[in-house]
Amino acid sequence: MSESSDPIALLDSAFRAATAAAFPEIGDADPLITASKQAALGDFQANIAMSLSKRVGKPPRDVAAAIVAKAGAMPDLQRIAEPLTDKSIAGHGFINIRLKGDALASLLASMDTPALGVPAPEVTETIAVDLCGVNLAKQMHVGHLRATIIGDALARVFERLGHKVVRQNHLGDWGLPIAMVTAKIAADAKAGKIDLATLRLDDLDRAYKQAQRECTGDEAGLAAVERFDLGPKARAELEEQVSGAREKLAAAKSTLVKLQAHDPEIYAVWQRIARITVDECVAVCARLHATVRAEDTAGESSYSNELGEIVDDLVNRNIAEESDGALVVRLDGPGDLDDRGQRISEPCIIRKSDGGFLYATTDLAGIRRRVRKFGASRLVYAVDARQSLHFQQVFAAARKAGYADMTGGKVATLRHAGFGMVLGEDGRPFKTRSGENVKLTDLIDEAHQRASAEVNRRSAALPDAERDRIAEAVGVAAIKYADLCNDRMKDYVFSFDRMVAFEGNTGPYLLYAFARIKSILRKAQAEKRIDTGPNAPFRKAPLAIVQPQEKTLALAILRYPGALKSMAEACEPHRLCGFLYDLAGAFSSFYDACPVLSADNEQTMLSRLRLCDLTGRVLYDGLTTLGLPTVERM
Ligand code: ARG
Repeated sequence: MSESSDPIALLDSAFRAATAAAFPEIGDADPLITASKQAALGDFQANIAMSLSKRVGKPPRDVAAAIVAKAGAMPDLQRIAEPLTDKSIAGHGFINIRLKGDALASLLASMDTPALGVPAPEVTETIAVDLCGVNLAKQMHVGHLRATIIGDALARVFERLGHKVVRQNHLGDWGLPIAMVTAKIAADAKAGKIDLATLRLDDLDRAYKQAQRECTGDEAGLAAVERFDLGPKARAELEEQVSGAREKLAAAKSTLVKLQAHDPEIYAVWQRIARITVDECVAVCARLHATVRAEDTAGESSYSNELGEIVDDLVNRNIAEESDGALVVRLDGPGDLDDRGQRISEPCIIRKSDGGFLYATTDLAGIRRRVRKFGASRLVYAVDARQSLHFQQVFAAARKAGYADMTGGKVATLRHAGFGMVLGEDGRPFKTRSGENVKLTDLIDEAHQRASAEVNRRSAALPDAERDRIAEAVGVAAIKYADLCNDRMKDYVFSFDRMVAFEGNTGPYLLYAFARIKSILRKAQAEKRIDTGPNAPFRKAPLAIVQPQEKTLALAILRYPGALKSMAEACEPHRLCGFLYDLAGAFSSFYDACPVLSADNEQTMLSRLRLCDLTGRVLYDGLTTLGLPTVERM
């Protein structure tokens, strides 16, 4: 017997086995179990007969009859469903299934454990989740929102399913642009213009942009001035700019060399910049209720000593070869395919012709470390979909190099969980009015503010401090849910108005559903003197699933373990979001139709109260798994 308490999962495995027994030549086939289209005919249906008919050369109704004959013997089916008969076959060969009267109640009771029916994993894996990925000396902006919260949600679901998760914040902290800002900060500190001890990320962000500008000479402008003879003044200005930029760039290059050699002075400045960046990043992630700690940081710099060795290793084993002075891993062999089984258009460059290493080289080192040092069997990267080619190249090169090989002969799974862009309401990339990237802290502040307006109106009676705490949670939940509920590969439009609404498919709506259940429990205690403590007897009260709304709610609750599993397998948080929205909707219909505290009799009241409690626990667990903060009242 299977462990699952989800009727769909149970029916799926029973009908799968019955189909394999009836048609051994077919082997494993999806029995296509769905909720019944007509409640009068049953609760579920199996639609496999129609699709199998052609393959086995028999009329669909005969196929259905053969499956029904075998299904009758399946213990899971006997346990939860009314016996199948010829009358169970309808129309073109649909098999109708009706659950036994007490099946939902007993499935719910078996799911009503602290684990909420989620089984321990068959194998506990170590899963490395690449998330956040901010860059040194730069404020977190809306572009980092998705990498942080999608990555965190995935990390959480893997943990929830019993796996060990290693979070990796692949901080962009190495290379020429970093040397540019380091050189600038070092020079300014030396000149007494800034104080390293009190420097803030905002200052660094400004210095970063300025360093970029200062190191970029307007060579095209100078050429134009020369070509069109625009006069000595324009020429002199541009000449000065270009030669200044050349000097700054040369200084940055020498700073890079010093950085790589851990020159004490430069290295100390760089460390200070890194410290400020990581502290701020960790603080913003905490505000977002995303778990990204300082110790989860594994910057590009942490791989710098391994890159030469990796390149040598690949050259020695003939995996990398020279091409126009650069070193590349060719990916045009028969085994070099991307996730979709397609060929990869370009080779993976691991060293430039000037001897410099690339983003890809570091990511190869990252894969090697995650597999060999952390023992990860799955590597998931929550990174912008525009980096898809990069990851396909790196993954293929890593497989080729054996960097994904685990001890024991298995190969780790490498997966890019890419995501689309955040758009403004004008359909263009989301920016401030002046065209700047929107800082994440500003975004959180505004969501908090807008949520305050709503919470102050609705919960005027609560003390100020509590209202503020609620507004904070509602604001963050609004931003996160509005992001996570979309198919991650698609772009989505960021709309404060829509996301902070308490109605519709929003974070606040789900938080409200949970708070409402908590309020029912509080009322049960205050008005009916029912013990609602952790081991309260009502949590063992017999469940009676009688009304259609109770049935729908029970069926929704039972889908929870499956929803978690499906989110984890597809690396798609929106699957769990959809589940929670359905659950909240089913609860709302139940609550409208079925009185709880004023039920006709004590037994019904306790059963319904238990149903409320179980729904609340599933909501809480699901929201927490997505990384959404919850509140007990609002
Ligand atoms: N810092 C990179 C960027 O801003 C993202 C890092 C993603 N992670 C990785 N392992 N490449 O684009």
